[in-house]
Amino acid sequence: MALREEIDRRRTFAIISHPDAGKTTLTEKLLLFGGAIHVAGAVKSNKIKRGATSDFMEIERQRGISVATSVMGFDYKGTKINILDTPGHEDFAEDTYRTLTAVDSVIIVIDGAKGVETQTRKLMEVCRMRKTPVMVFINKMDRPSKDPFDLLDEVESELKIRVRPLAFPVSNGPTFKGVYNLYENNLSLFLTENRQTADGETIDITLDDARLDDYISPFTARLKEDLELVEGVYDTFERDAYLRGELAPVFFGSAINNFGVRELLDCFIKIAPSPRPSTTEQREVDPYEEKLTGFVFKIHANMDPNHRDRIAFLKICSGTFERNKPYLHVRSGKNMKFSSPTAFMAEKKSIVDEAFPGDIVGLHDTGNFKIGDTFTEGEKLRFTGIPSFSPELFRYIENASPEKFKQLSKGIDQLMDEGVAQLFTSRLNGRKIIGTVGALQFEVIQYRLEHEYNAMCKYEPIQIHKACWIESDNAEQLADFMKRKHANMAIDKHGRDVFLADTSYGLSLAQEKFPDIRFHFTSEF
Ligand code: G4P
Repeated sequence: MALREEIDRRRTFAIISHPDAGKTTLTEKLLLFGGAIHVAGAVKSNKIKRGATSDFMEIERQRGISVATSVMGFDYKGTKINILDTPGHEDFAEDTYRTLTAVDSVIIVIDGAKGVETQTRKLMEVCRMRKTPVMVFINKMDRPSKDPFDLLDEVESELKIRVRPLAFPVSNGPTFKGVYNLYENNLSLFLTENRQTADGETIDITLDDARLDDYISPFTARLKEDLELVEGVYDTFERDAYLRGELAPVFFGSAINNFGVRELLDCFIKIAPSPRPSTTEQREVDPYEEKLTGFVFKIHANMDPNHRDRIAFLKICSGTFERNKPYLHVRSGKNMKFSSPTAFMAEKKSIVDEAFPGDIVGLHDTGNFKIGDTFTEGEKLRFTGIPSFSPELFRYIENASPEKFKQLSKGIDQLMDEGVAQLFTSRLNGRKIIGTVGALQFEVIQYRLEHEYNAMCKYEPIQIHKACWIESDNAEQLADFMKRKHANMAIDKHGRDVFLADTSYGLSLAQEKFPDIRFHFTSEF
């Protein structure tokens, strides 16, 4: 197959949700309908079980299992689908943010009884920033749910995106019958109770089919009214608006009962984007370019002391990736080749000879790679759009065994390169401050420093509400700000100025008093 065809048939996306909305279940059902697995329950959950939050080793063990399910690739109706898994636990939200830098679209799962929840809102902010096309799947309609029109309004106002239903539920809760497919204009109903496999017998009927009443009575009239209302209220679906990230098609269903999943998948392969151009500091990279380019968006360390290797996940952005061919690792200027790059098909890993834009390749790493590292065939490019996000929790980190200073600093450096947390150095006293998205990361860092680098650290509290990167065209105002806020200023790993606001009030006050200063909540602006 020519490179162009390979690219056009790829769909690389992530499923995101607030924990418990049904992300794992939907992922598994997509694999089931895609023929990648044959029975439900075959995919090991990447989900961190409730109640395990205090035991991060258990969480890491579960994360270890999840390497295999980090990327799930499969072929469906001529399309190559790559699902990038994201950790369900909110302490690993930064991992999820970074995964979103490697996808071309996103499916958001929402619980029909709960509506839009916090984590979903935060993740949507990242999608909006990147103009990622999103689809919404409203799940658990087999449970008593909110009114579908109210849910649509809620998604629109809470996620700040225009919506257009492409499937609509027939009742909900115990009387839930299925979903009407507004994209194909038919209703697909299960004739058997066997819904756990993908071959349960179904019948497709249209709205004016006389048999409709036999199947969905007493909801026939209601469905017709609802569909009229949908057509009256919402404009026809515009794919371009979806591709620009301005309009979210919405589907309803029940992942566990296989309702609405095939509708979602079939529509997804038709409308979701194939690999899109990527931006670098130097120029835009088109996926159809002959030469390979790609970047590392995630590094997974193995917690098993006997196998201390890491896997770097490379997203291919253009050209063809070939095994054993030398590529330029732009940051170090060295050529590297990979004898055993891995591809991910369903829940299996295997060595690949070649991979195409949209694909993710796992590279064996002995500690040389950083998040954001770029590979090319010689051109010095640096991909952008892989920012660090403003952390939410902060602590001073100190050396607890002075003779291990070197080990500690190497360990901290490598863990930061992996994206476990962010390091800031105070301008006031030169002390090192660790910023994370989740409380668990502090334990992870301490444990890993001790076990992997033979170094000991201790933490001390520090009152910081938010870290923001600052810049201004008004040099005088910037200098004045830095002088007055000296005690709250720090530099990040790359030497950029960061303001550590003590409180949210302090931050708004600073924003008000220094109008020419821009306060950024991600490291790229
Ligand atoms: P997550 O990855 O988003 O965290 O959610 P997950 O798929 O694990 O689903 C969370 C819970 O919701 C699971 O139940 C799952 O079985 C259930 N669920 C998923 N889809 C549906 C649906 O369409 N309808 C209903 N009624 N439930 C659904 P659990 O009891 O927490 O876990 P388990 O013991 O069933 O694994």
